[in-house]
Amino acid sequence: TPSRDDIAAIIADHRGMEGPLLPILHAIQHAFGHVPQAALPLIAEALNISRAEVHGVMSFYHDFREAPAGRRVVKLCRAEACQAVGGAAVAAEVLADLGLNWQETTPDGAVTVEAVYCLGLCACGPAAVIGDRVHGRISAARMRALLAEATP
Ligand code: FES
Repeated sequence: TPSRDDIAAIIADHRGMEGPLLPILHAIQHAFGHVPQAALPLIAEALNISRAEVHGVMSFYHDFREAPAGRRVVKLCRAEACQAVGGAAVAAEVLADLGLNWQETTPDGAVTVEAVYCLGLCACGPAAVIGDRVHGRISAARMRALLAEATP
């Protein structure tokens, strides 16, 4: 687990920047794979803003995790072109299959499902990424198959 000192060092490195909040959040997530709860008060104090503001920014951008990700991260596209070809229904089915809500990880730590907003694959939606591989024309059945072959 990330120590207070590690987090404080990252904050100190970035707090002099203009608009330091996003760079700090990115640097912490890059270092630890997520932004731990313990970082919020430290960031808030260093930037003289409230914890709620830090949290608000974290939830506005979809890039930040509040908990460590599972071994496999699935990102389902929720942008317009994919929604127009049934993306929402596919996402609902994928989430139900795994027993998850957005941003959650299966209890065995195997899979995390996150949202993404356009993968540049709009012509063959619904689109998804599993790990670092992009897939078009995703259905719940195809996702099941992909996860079965991909889950470590
Ligand atoms: Fe989904 Fe562009 S809208 S890939």
